[in-house]
Amino acid sequence: MICEIIENKKKYLPLLLLADEQESMIESYLNRGTMYVLEEQDVKVVCVVTDEGQEEGKRILEIKNLAVAPESQKKGYGRAMIEFVKKQYTDSFDVLQAGTGDSQLTIPFYEKCGFRKSHVMKNFFVDNYDHPIYEEGIQLVDMIYLRMNL
Ligand SMILES: CC(C)(COP(=O)(O)OP(=O)(O)OC[C@H]1O[C@@H](n2cnc3c(N)ncnc32)[C@H](O)[C@@H]1OP(=O)(O)O)[C@@H](O)C(=O)NCCC(=O)NCCS
Repeated sequence: MICEIIENKKKYLPLLLLADEQESMIESYLNRGTMYVLEEQDVKVVCVVTDEGQEEGKRILEIKNLAVAPESQKKGYGRAMIEFVKKQYTDSFDVLQAGTGDSQLTIPFYEKCGFRKSHVMKNFFVDNYDHPIYEEGIQLVDMIYLRMNL
């Protein structure tokens, strides 16, 4: 079962750090975001979504953080969390958006879940993080946004 977490969101910091390794960045969206957790036996999944306002009359919901505990990855839990968010917000938002580094660990996952690349924020990881971020030995520079209609 997926539950909304209202209090003590920081309890899930170890999981949140898997998807976003700088704590100050997590803090920038944790309070204004809505957090969901799937926690059963050994499975742990966390997701934080934020209201990003409107663009050309379309209401944008953003996945700021999505993390599946390493031992539970590639078993469908990440997709299940996205399906939950879609269902939860289909009436109140028009577009679901996710931003990620240009990484083969995340972009294929979002594409498999039905997202399509929409736009790029140049130098996001260089300008907003206090240290270089590497994934699979490649430095993340630009933020790649993917979107789907709700
Ligand atoms: C990225 C992440 C959320 C994916 O969750 P997951 O539970 O492992 O993924 P799922 O099992 O739901 O996968 C759904 C589909 O995406 C595919 N997929 C998942 N990760 C993939 C990868 N690295 N490369 C290619 N395909 C991938 C799966 O094979 C599956 O496809 P299928 O249905 O055709 O078999 C998870 O691996 C994770 O938490 N990673 C660390 C944190 C992170 O990088 N978060 C995202 C940035 S916000």
